[in-house]
Amino acid sequence: MPAKSEPLDLTAVRVPRHVAIIMDGNGRWARKRNLPRVAGHRAGAENLRRIINACVEFGIKILTIYAFSTENWERPESEVRGLMKIFTRVLDQELSELHAQGVCLHHLGDLNGIEPELQQKVLDALELTKSNDRLTLNVAFNYGGRAEILHAVREMLGDGISPDELTEELFSSYLFTSGLPDPDLVIRTSGELRISNFLIWQAAYAEYYATPCYWPDFDREELYEALVAYSQRERRFGALPEDGD
Ligand code: FPP
Repeated sequence: MPAKSEPLDLTAVRVPRHVAIIMDGNGRWARKRNLPRVAGHRAGAENLRRIINACVEFGIKILTIYAFSTENWERPESEVRGLMKIFTRVLDQELSELHAQGVCLHHLGDLNGIEPELQQKVLDALELTKSNDRLTLNVAFNYGGRAEILHAVREMLGDGISPDELTEELFSSYLFTSGLPDPDLVIRTSGELRISNFLIWQAAYAEYYATPCYWPDFDREELYEALVAYSQRERRFGALPEDGD
């Protein structure tokens, strides 16, 4: 891995258009330091800032992050409250800088069930940043892949879509990621090898990269390493390589 001071050679990597990240390991990062779990989430939020900057620097156009899953409500109430406080603070403190940086925010998931004040902050942030085009940041928040698919099916039935009209493209257009290309690379930190209900339709052909690094420590150099690994993959989308017989 290059030393932190070394400039990174971006000509040596293929930069994916769309990177999706399962930001895992905040709790273990905190436990290792005898800190409460929420301190790990705070460190995770600070790291997100660094990774957004790195994505802009590397020329990644779309970043999707798994911030809060439909299953995360099962965590202790104090942790859920701590997470909601962090999301609120990030919106309060980082939004103008994200906007100035040209970040366009998208929300994936269901805002119902979120405290109304936070809901409104999210809606305001989407409105403020909707014309930005340097980096699209999709925040999966109260998101689950299966719930997203059911939501899409319900909407299609409501629109009276008939079975012969149904195509993969049409189905994709009913997902929260409508209009966006599928992720090229899915990264999961902290060594877990599960997809955990994240972009289960969209990531069908994504390359998968897992690193033992906990999310708060996953820095610009770690992201670069993921791009190096991605560059070495041969993407086949189920077909044979060009020179296959
Ligand atoms: C998984 O770590 C992480 C989460 C459930 C929350 C992710 C949230 C952040 C990184 C905070 C910042 C996000 C935004 C959008 C401001 P874990 O708690 O499951 O870790 P563990 O597996 O080690 O317990």
